[in-house]
Amino acid sequence: MNSVRRINEDYCYVGASERSPRLFENLFPVPRGVSYNSYLLRDEKTVLFDTVDRAVGDAFFENLSAALGGRKLDYAVVSHMEPDHAATLAELVLRYPGVKLVCNAKSANMIRQFFDFDFDPLLVAEGEELSVGEHTLKFIMAPMVHWPEVMFTFDERDGILFSADAFGAFGALEGSIFADELDIASEWQDDYLRYYSNIVGKYGAQVQAALKKTAGLDIRMICPLHGPVWRGELTRLLEKHDRWSKWEPETDDVLIVYSTVYGNTERAVAQAAAYLAERGRRVRTINICTTDRSYTVAEMFRAKNILLATTTYNNGIYPAMEYLLDDIAALTLRDRRVGIIENGTWAPAAAKLISAKLDTMKNIEVAGVLTVKSALKPEQEAQLQELCDALIS
Ligand code: FEO
Repeated sequence: MNSVRRINEDYCYVGASERSPRLFENLFPVPRGVSYNSYLLRDEKTVLFDTVDRAVGDAFFENLSAALGGRKLDYAVVSHMEPDHAATLAELVLRYPGVKLVCNAKSANMIRQFFDFDFDPLLVAEGEELSVGEHTLKFIMAPMVHWPEVMFTFDERDGILFSADAFGAFGALEGSIFADELDIASEWQDDYLRYYSNIVGKYGAQVQAALKKTAGLDIRMICPLHGPVWRGELTRLLEKHDRWSKWEPETDDVLIVYSTVYGNTERAVAQAAAYLAERGRRVRTINICTTDRSYTVAEMFRAKNILLATTTYNNGIYPAMEYLLDDIAALTLRDRRVGIIENGTWAPAAAKLISAKLDTMKNIEVAGVLTVKSALKPEQEAQLQELCDALIS
């Protein structure tokens, strides 16, 4: 039994999904699982496009064997060496000793760093081509999307772009592998943004470079390493990634991100949310004490106007808020308007420290600050409204 899916006449999907909830990169919750995509071309030569994570190695090798149908494996293209796609490379070479690895020089060095097997790769560089029969594969470098050695492959005849981690998403593929077989808008969209913002988000400039480099190609299908395969109508997918990689927000809604220790900051947040809603703005509120950071990061990529509310803690910023700010600084989030509510009973200091962190980021405007001492007082209502008005002005 195998789970091979046909992509078109010559290509098939031989990847596999991990469905049990676990942490991707030992860091990100993936309650909908994650897929590790791999593709096989059967032409005069056979060509594999990447292997998979060790977690799904058995399913992958079963698929590969079934898809090869007794043929030998001639080539394996290595798009990059991150182990969620390359961990089973050594086993591939053991099982298919005649296989020629196709990669760039940086990947070859990394293969030697990760593994001890001997190999004589076919080294390819920008724009070089490999003919494997009816199909010719063209190699396009996409450095830092999101490792330095990342390489796309384009099959001009079929218009297929093998895009490595670009255009990927969290979420297991449950038999249906094509985006047009799935409910992307309601079931996948959030995981696209959470994947993009947390995994690739830092490298917007490099994503832009890759988008420009591939803009002239007649792309009819995109085969990423995670998530659905896209065919036919690609505009929506390309536009989303163009927007995200320019750090353009998707909405004018207000995002409120807060931490609370005893509920007083949360009550101030509730008042701000009510006022903003009265002003006609849709509000999304996230308690970062109970929400994994990756979800908040994604929402901060989505929103233009963000209200941060937190307490002072050990003369610093409450840890969950500090970690979040460090994350978005590392991911180089920019071009946002931020309001700050700080709370502290005897020496509130969070706002100053948050502002200093935001100062290190590009084009983050601090619209205003409200200091709460223990609990928001009725006489501070006007100040709170002023802060909210400044945030949405
Ligand atoms: Fe999905 Fe860069 O690995």
